[in-house]
Amino acid sequence: MQRLWSAISCVLLASAAAASSASSQSFENSAIVRTIDLGGSLVHVTTTFAVKALKEAVNVYTITLPEDEIFNTSWLEVKVKGNQQPLTITYSGAPVGSKSHNLDVNLEKPLEAGATINLVLETVQTHATWPWPKQAAQDEDQSLKYETSLFVLSPYNTSVQRTKFKSSSPRILSYTTPEDVQAFTVENPVTKSGATVTYGPFNNVPSSVNSEFLEQYQQHVVLHYNYDYPVLEVLELKRAAEISHWGANLNIQDDIVLHNAGPQLKGHFSRLQHQTQSFYGRGAPHVLPLFTVQLPPGIRNTYYIDQIGNVSTSRLRAAPSVARGVKNTQNSVMELKPRYPIMGGWNYTYTLGWDAPLGDSGSYDSKTGKYLVSVPVMTEIPGAVVNNAEVSIILPEGATDVDYVTPFPALSNEISTHVTYLDTIGRPMVTFKYKNLTNKHAKPIYISYRVPISAHLRKPMAVTTVLLILFTFAMVARRVDLTIHKMPTKKM
Ligand SMILES: *[C@@H]1O[C@H](CO)[C@@H](O)[C@H](O)[C@H]1NC(C)=O
Ligand SMILES: *[C@@H]1O[C@H](CO)[C@@H](O)[C@H](O)[C@H]1NC(C)=O
Ligand SMILES: *[C@@H]1O[C@H](CO)[C@@H](O)[C@H](O)[C@H]1NC(C)=O
Ligand SMILES: *[C@@H]1O[C@H](CO)[C@@H](O)[C@H](O)[C@H]1NC(C)=O
Ligand SMILES: *[C@@H]1O[C@H](CO)[C@@H](O)[C@H](O)[C@H]1NC(C)=O
Repeated sequence: MQRLWSAISCVLLASAAAASSASSQSFENSAIVRTIDLGGSLVHVTTTFAVKALKEAVNVYTITLPEDEIFNTSWLEVKVKGNQQPLTITYSGAPVGSKSHNLDVNLEKPLEAGATINLVLETVQTHATWPWPKQAAQDEDQSLKYETSLFVLSPYNTSVQRTKFKSSSPRILSYTTPEDVQAFTVENPVTKSGATVTYGPFNNVPSSVNSEFLEQYQQHVVLHYNYDYPVLEVLELKRAAEISHWGANLNIQDDIVLHNAGPQLKGHFSRLQHQTQSFYGRGAPHVLPLFTVQLPPGIRNTYYIDQIGNVSTSRLRAAPSVARGVKNTQNSVMELKPRYPIMGGWNYTYTLGWDAPLGDSGSYDSKTGKYLVSVPVMTEIPGAVVNNAEVSIILPEGATDVDYVTPFPALSNEISTHVTYLDTIGRPMVTFKYKNLTNKHAKPIYISYRVPISAHLRKPMAVTTVLLILFTFAMVARRVDLTIHKMPTKKM
């Protein structure tokens, strides 16, 4: 269950004793609508529960997720429809024989009998689709399969429920026709219209978190659809964010292994064919020629390096720094164009880094005497899942009283020391590890620390010492007629 807990930002772990059998009569669902956006690496699922309270002063609504779905769920949030603030969720155990798990949603304000509320459950599933066929030639389409359960489970009676699958393309190649559902509908249980496949409406569905219902009616449906974008996974993301009070700089460097998880390329890659297809605007969907990322405003010294060296075929449109009184917080936009298009099954390793004014993301609180800096967990690559992430924040030398707040729990975190050029005692470094990150996880980590005055002085002292040594060395060197190579300059 580690997976589910790490997926949910605000889950509180309740004692397993939390009995929910009594609550099964507290509500009924007037309607459940689940919408599944058929994607590549990420599948966004939105389920709206139109809920009616059947008792006085009920404030805990239970949502049930099947185990196999939880396995692929990397992010989850419940809100009252129209509200921004997510509700608190408590894990409340697995009902016996249901192969599913309950989450108790705290409604904050108790409902009176007969009162209604609309709850919206949003989840992001990762690695839930797979390419089918598994191979594609350069001029062929890309199609994926996705599988899920037909019925949305609920411990409460439901008047009507339906599930809509939305594809980015109307070319849906096949979808499962459910069996033995006449108890809930007299019409066709599945219909396709354009790029949408709808299961239901299913009427008068009883409480479904029990083995009788599951054995009799629950079933899996599989959709096979054309997908017009590359399926991207970041196998490894190593982000190092280095805070420097000298020069008031925040340097961020991402070392990335990107993987095209679409169908494997059949045969050899032909650049001529690729160029011809691109020329006619028919580039194969499973080929990644370029991609765009949003970087912070005010960045400088942006570098994009692959295993061969500097990649110059990229474009950056830098937005001005927010600290310069610019009101609109527009992002810089960077278009990354690898040296060669990335085909299905291929990896692409690169480094992207930049400097940003520290004032754009940091501040000093004179009351507490502490600095506060925000560092985003990641930069979103549109549509991509990040399988493994390691985010290190390197603080100024001598920083103490380090505290941090993460937007969601990390799998692990540790404080260590990072020693770089010109450092005397090294810098405190906090490292966070994550798995299966989605666009919803691209949120900041807040870190606060104190820098004693003596630490501010340590750097000039170190610089003086180094210069002195260099100077002495230069004198000796000149006498024995050696050529002194330029010192490698390292960004501080
Ligand atoms: C991440 O996703 C992979 C593939 O679905 C899965 O095997 C793994 O358990 C997940 N890890 C976590 C921590 O969620
Ligand atoms: C739920 O539905 C079942 C049968 O469909 C019915 O017997 C039961 O009374 C209903 N429960 C509530 C609370 O309405
Ligand atoms: C979860 O992903 C795996 C593939 O990694 C797939 O076999 C399984 O059907 C998925 N489950 C759901 C509920 O999407
Ligand atoms: C890398 O390329 C950029 C843009 O093309 C250029 O400004 C920069 O000087 C290059 N850096 C190196 C080290 O070659
Ligand atoms: C891609 O990288 C992963 C992990 O670094 C490795 O296991 C895999 O073999 C690589 N695939 C290819 C085609 O090089």
